Amino acid sequence: MHVLGIDTSCDDTGVGIVAIDDDGTSRVLANVVASQAAVHAAYGGVLPEQASREHLSVIDAVVGRALEEAVLAIADVDAVAATYGPGLAGALLVGLTYAKGLAFGLGVPFAKVHHLEGHVAASVASGAAGAGPTPPFLCLIASGGHTVLFDVPAWGTYRPLGRSLDDAAGEAFDKVARLIGLPYPGGPALAALAAEGDPEAVALPVPLARQEGFDFSFSGLKTAVAVRLEREPDLRPADVAAAFERRAVDHLRSVAQRAAAALGRQDLVVAGGVAANRRLRSELGDAGLRVFLPPAGLATDNGAMIALAAAQRLFAGTVDADDLRADATPYLPLADAVARPRDATPRRG
Ligand code: KG4
Ligand code: ZN
Repeated sequence: MHVLGIDTSCDDTGVGIVAIDDDGTSRVLANVVASQAAVHAAYGGVLPEQASREHLSVIDAVVGRALEEAVLAIADVDAVAATYGPGLAGALLVGLTYAKGLAFGLGVPFAKVHHLEGHVAASVASGAAGAGPTPPFLCLIASGGHTVLFDVPAWGTYRPLGRSLDDAAGEAFDKVARLIGLPYPGGPALAALAAEGDPEAVALPVPLARQEGFDFSFSGLKTAVAVRLEREPDLRPADVAAAFERRAVDHLRSVAQRAAAALGRQDLVVAGGVAANRRLRSELGDAGLRVFLPPAGLATDNGAMIALAAAQRLFAGTVDADDLRADATPYLPLADAVARPRDATPRRG
């Protein structure tokens, strides 16, 4: 069975195709992402109306490229999935409407997918066959729009343990990158610059150093960078980047590690764009936990992760005609949105 997944929640048009075998094992056959970064760079952030227009102008071509990459014809698609939230309303509408129309036209099932569940599916699928996580596990989602820590006692149950009280982790990377003078989108550029810097050279505060809960905060760190740069304009940008990255990554790692100890969890699934960060990946590797990270190319927004999450839902039998009624839903907390039978263990390939 071939599932085509579409994500247009923000500024990337992502289309992926996944093959699912009879036992539920899934393989990514295609993953094409058309980035709008150049369009939004002039504004230093995403211009929502422009994002919708760009999605509309490229989506057909991106679907065509994904089919080419998978060496499939449109008639080989057995199910279509799309993100229905959270995200930018107009942007979501483009992918969702396109996907529903395609499914209806082909006469195949349509599966609605929660954007964050897509990110989680990409990380869950990262384990070699049979070696992926099984609940209970902790799940850290760190993207441009969200930073949340969940306990997952059973498939489909997301119990929030903590969240960012202000900026999301990726948002903070982007804002600090901007302070340093790096172009949008700044996260990956800041991480690359940090690799050349000395994190010891610039002292920055430790976020929420004394909290007993499992929340996150990044805006104090960002403000500290802004103040330091204003007072000491001669600081080496690479050192500032390295110092910020170290504090931000330590914060993510230490909260997750403390939560794992408190709840007695050994497995940690990390999802979202910031999971691409090298320093985070290596620090988590030393944290004494079994860590599941998204494979290269599936950390930041893409359509393959939506197809992977849809494959799980199709395999579990929770996709029905009601999915076609799903509306674009900009505000959509994960804990409220997902309900899956307990025995629906996804397999990996
Ligand atoms: O999950 P994602 O693609 O989009 C959202 O759903 O938000 O995450 C994008 C975020 C951006 O803020 C980007 O700067 C950040 O992930 N990001 C990184 C890295 N790659 C992407 N942050 C730190 N280091 C990276 N290597
Ligand atoms: Zn995302």
